[in-house]
Amino acid sequence: MSTYKEQIDKQRIPQHIAIIMDGNGRWAKKMGNQRIFGHQNGVTSVREVTEAAAELGIKFLTLYAFSTENWNRPADEVNALMDLLVKTIEAETPTLAKNNVRLLTIGDITRMPNQTAQRLQQCIEQTKHNTGLSLVLALSYSSRWEMTNAIQNMVQDAVNQKLSPNDISEEVIANYLATKSMPDPELLIRTSGEYRISNFLLWQIAYTELYFTEVLWPEFRKEDLYQAIVNYQSRERRFGKTSEQVTQ
Ligand code: IPE
Ligand code: IPE
Ligand code: MG
Repeated sequence: MSTYKEQIDKQRIPQHIAIIMDGNGRWAKKMGNQRIFGHQNGVTSVREVTEAAAELGIKFLTLYAFSTENWNRPADEVNALMDLLVKTIEAETPTLAKNNVRLLTIGDITRMPNQTAQRLQQCIEQTKHNTGLSLVLALSYSSRWEMTNAIQNMVQDAVNQKLSPNDISEEVIANYLATKSMPDPELLIRTSGEYRISNFLLWQIAYTELYFTEVLWPEFRKEDLYQAIVNYQSRERRFGKTSEQVTQ
């Protein structure tokens, strides 16, 4: 039996994969441990998918690491997560640099503790000239925050006479989003058997293929990513056209 990796069509690798990394808490509970133990073990999965994505020549990998709504979790968990985030990113930055990976973030960084934001910014600076995979961490991110922010900036530009209503096209809107200059994801993966989007990339996933798996995030490995890609490649993307039109 061939592995999922062997089944991947190298000519049709998605440019951008987004992942809602879910199930850390449930995995920790299953192991008889605290929630943070799940987050700690989720780091291994992040490392695995980043490496796999870079090896496959994927251009953008966007990982939902912390949502706007996650600020409402118990303070202990939020603090532990912030600490884990910045420590992990700092520890991994040399490896990212060596592997030509560029680190980016999307999200409302103003809500992050000052020190965390500054340390994060340093890592972004250190990898900014890399030309391989762009690893995009969605931190303190939600799609409604992103859209609200975009509209505020558009109205401000209109007030300053830099934008008029007739200028506003889909491309212009996309340029006001945190994901500007990134292609829309072709594939969105959510782990842990939840079938929802949880305020992630609502504009950008208009025509994205959705893939849900029962695997809990800390158990997600390269082979799970390959399986998702093989599944994605088996689908017919019609973009509103008929099947006959797209198979011509
Ligand atoms: C995902 O795992 C990580 C974050 C949201 C930060 P969860 O912490 O949501 O784990 P579950 O969903 O409670 O199992
Ligand atoms: C979504 O997971 C956010 C991240 C993975 C960072 P949640 O666990 O917060 O999502 P809901 O609240 O169950 O929808
Ligand atoms: Mg969850």
